Parts: sequence; structure tokens; C-alpha cells
Amino acid sequence: MSHSITQLAEWKALKDHFSEIKKLHLKTLFQNDPHRFSRFSFVFNDEILLDFSKNIITEKTIHLLLNLAQALKLEEKRDAMFTGETINWTENRPVLHIALRNRSNTPIIVDGKDVMPEVNQVLSKMEFFSNAVRSGKWRGFTGKKIRTIINIGIGGSYLGPKMICEAMKPYADKNLSVRFISNVDATDFVHQVKNTNPEETLFIVASKSFTTQETMTNAMTAKHWIIEKLGNEKAVASHFVAVSTNIKRVEAFGISTENIFHFWDWVGGRYSWASAIGLPIVCYIGFDRFVELLAGAHDIDIHFKETPLDKNIPTIFALIGIWYTNFFGFETQAILPYDQHLKYLPLYLQQADMESNGKFVDFSGRTVDYQTGSIVWGETGTNGQHAFYQLIHQGTKIVPADFIGCVNSHHPMGDHHLKLMANFFAQTEALMRGETVEHKNMDTRLPHKVFYGNRPTTSILMKQLTPRNLGRLIALYEMKIFVQGIIWRINSFDQWGVELGKMLAKKILDEEQLLLNGQHVDLDTHDSSTKGLLRFFTQGSVSLG
Ligand code: F6P
Repeated sequence: MSHSITQLAEWKALKDHFSEIKKLHLKTLFQNDPHRFSRFSFVFNDEILLDFSKNIITEKTIHLLLNLAQALKLEEKRDAMFTGETINWTENRPVLHIALRNRSNTPIIVDGKDVMPEVNQVLSKMEFFSNAVRSGKWRGFTGKKIRTIINIGIGGSYLGPKMICEAMKPYADKNLSVRFISNVDATDFVHQVKNTNPEETLFIVASKSFTTQETMTNAMTAKHWIIEKLGNEKAVASHFVAVSTNIKRVEAFGISTENIFHFWDWVGGRYSWASAIGLPIVCYIGFDRFVELLAGAHDIDIHFKETPLDKNIPTIFALIGIWYTNFFGFETQAILPYDQHLKYLPLYLQQADMESNGKFVDFSGRTVDYQTGSIVWGETGTNGQHAFYQLIHQGTKIVPADFIGCVNSHHPMGDHHLKLMANFFAQTEALMRGETVEHKNMDTRLPHKVFYGNRPTTSILMKQLTPRNLGRLIALYEMKIFVQGIIWRINSFDQWGVELGKMLAKKILDEEQLLLNGQHVDLDTHDSSTKGLLRFFTQGSVSLG
């Protein structure tokens, strides 16, 4: 395309439509259309209700957004992903996390070879290993059963497994605890190994590249910890396994081939939960339930691949986000799970979305003249209600919010769940409807009590947070992110933006070490602020005069 998407007739039609719609109030839209809920809602496989009706959209909005998607060849691009084309062209790779959960086993060809046999082989290895850990067949160096699994990894090698393990706690083996060490801050390590018996602890070192500074540092510390506690270097073999695409580096670390779980460069880190990166999940909830997670994601993959765009849930979900980002100019997206088990979902989606779509260069290498990825953030309901909802209700910024909850709780105690969900429904209604106050008297406080409303929300209501529904929920967001990347014409699958900081950190680490050893370092390559910070850090004082 030789020009920006903002020059497309379909984009301009949306701009014109925005001028018509921006004065409409959601309350009026509901009053004028008794069928609004059914018009803008979907039920997926009788299990998940997705209600888009409290968004500032009309049928014309969706129609025009779909025209835009078609003009940008969404279906063609989607098919390119599913058939293994090199759609992550800046890293020269296909994007095939869909192969990891391809439960129908239809061949997926990369470089002339079907990847499914290898995918299934790794799954079998994960099954065998997790059964051994769970049954006690796998023993620690001193012959004890494993009771604590500690995953060492960061980013995609951490957030997916952490979020899923927390969400799937009701299905977990009660004799196993799973912990995560991610931060290079030693506090993380110290806290996670506290009250752990090294004889009963298994470390999973998870890193796609096996070069990530934080993970390598924590893995080395863990290795020394095991050797010191168990008094023998040979203990490493019984207490460490690794998950990576970089077999050579894992072997150099001292983990033998049979304890390495492999995956492939066509799995992006933030899309890797369904690969061997999911090993802590398999150990925690068992292989059959992990397969249910995969099956749920596969359900959405198939739906996304085969459903016409006007009924295609991730597509509609994504297009509403485009509508807000590019026409209303809303900058953030809140994720508000009304389910304590989903407490890490906002964090997980933050990486999935922001690392994928936080880009300013388009397919043609041009700087975009429109907004891309949203700022994703959130917290569980009802906690958020007592913290930041004030701004969502009455602030000067509009924050589209996804409310996510379940019909059935895993902990049906008293009226807790009724109360929780009453709050979910009340919040979305209040945000939509608002409240005006009659100015009948001179009470100057009255304006402060006005809720303008018209604040958009999407409600996602699952029958229960089962492995299958969680798999569906994750894939729904993954595909939403994909669609948005196509509309914005950006590569959602690279992450060059993280490189500069990593490179500078390496250089600064060397400088810190030299300075602490009292050696001279030429800090003039840095700005005065960075120099000042480094001096204060290494010398304990800095002259401001
Ligand atoms: O620095 C960002 C990143 O590369 C993420 O994309 C990735 O999920 C994370 O670091 C961890 O990478 P790895 O799995 O290679 O250790």
C-alpha cells in the first residue's frame, strides 16, 4: 500500500460516521432499541456470553469497521498465519502458536515439513514427565518426592504459566506448590525459596533464548543454592529441567538432553503458554487438563479461521478496540476480572497486547500517522472499585473496560458470589447509564454527584472458569491482538523495542563493576542525569553544586 490507512475511503467513512455518533448516548441507544443486547451479543459454544452492547456502536459502525477490515485484507492475512507463511518478516519466521493447540492434528507445513509430529512428541514428553513428578516416580537427589516446582523465567516464559496456574488452582494437585522467580532483584529469589525444602524442589528454567539476563542470573543462583544445600554437584540433574529453543545453551548450563523440553522459533514468547513453556501448568493440573486448555484455545482458533467476519467474535472485539483507539482517541483499555482466580490476567494481557502492538512502523517501514496499541491495565473486581473506578466513572478520560466473570464460582460460599456479580452488573450499568441530578435547589455539591455515563464496557461471562473456557478466553484475546495488528499494518510478533535497554544495561553493568572496583570509567558517553545516578549508586554521594 503506497499510502497510509488514514487515506482509505473506508477510514474516511468511519471518520464521518464518528462525527454522527459522537453525540449519541448509550442510554438512548438502549432506549431506542429493545433488541440491542441480542443484536450485539454472542454466545460461544453455549459456554461464554460476550456482550458488546454497552459499547458506543451501532450496526452501521460495525458494518463500516468490517469494510475497513476487508479493505486491509484481514481474511487473507489470517489465512497466511494459519498456513505458516513468514508473517513475522522482521525476524523471518512464521507465527504458529495455533499449531501448539491444533487438536484436530491437521498438517501445518513449515519449510516443507509438517510440524505436528514434533508438537505431539514434545506434548508426550511433557505428559510423561509431569506424570513422573506428580506420582512421585521422579525423585530428588536424596530420594524425596517433589513438592515444590519453581519456574525461573520472565516475560512470556513467566506470565502465561503464572496466570494460568493461578486461574486453574481448583484443579491443582494439592500436594504440589508452584512458584515463580522472574525478577533479577534477588528479593524475588530469596522470597520464593524461603521455607522450601531443596530436597523436594524442582527448578524449571524457562527461556526461549536461554540468554535473558534475569533468567540466567536466577538459574545460576538456583544451581548454586541446590549444590550448596545438597552438598553435591550431581544433585543438579535431579533438580533442574529446562524449556528452550536453544538446546546448545541449555546443555552448556549443565542440563542434559533428556531433561530439555524443546520448542520452536515460530512460537513467540508471549504466545508460548501452550508450548513446553506450559510445563509448570502440566505438572500442577495434570496433562489431561492441560489438553483441555489447548482444546479451548483450538475452539477459538477454528472459530476465528472459519467464521465469516460479521460473526467472528475476536474480529468484532478487535474492531471495537480500533473504533475507540483511532476514532474516539481513547488511549487505555482496562481489564477487570470479577474472579479472584483471574487476578494475573491484566498483567498477562499487558504483555500480550503491549509487546505485540506497541509499534510505530508499518508494513511498508513508514512511521504511522495514527495510534496503535492501547495501554492495557487492570485489577480484579471488586478491589478496583474501591481504588480507581472513580476515574472511570467521572474522570476526564474515557476508559473502555472489559468485565470478565463467571456464572458459577469455584467457591460457592454463602452469598459471596451473588454479591460479586451484583457488583459486576451494577458497574457496567452505572457506567453506561450514568445519573443526572436535578438542580432544583442551590446545593453546590450537586454537580459533583452527576454521572455522565456513556462509558463503554464489554462483558464476558463464562459458565465456569474451566480449563477449556480459560483456553478460549486466552485465544480470544490473542486473536483480537492479531486482528488489530493487521488493521494497523504493524508486525505484532517482533519486539525490537526491548533491545536498546538490554544493550545499555550490559554496558552499564560493566561500568558499575569497574567503578565499584575503584577503576576509572569514562562516563562522558552518558547524559548528566545517568552519570549522576551512577555516581550516587557507586559512590554513595553526588555533587549537585
Ligand atoms: O525482553 C522481552 C522478551 O524477549 C519477551 O518477548 C520474552 O517473553 C521475554 O523477554 C523472555 O525471553 P526468553 O524466554 O527468551 O527468556
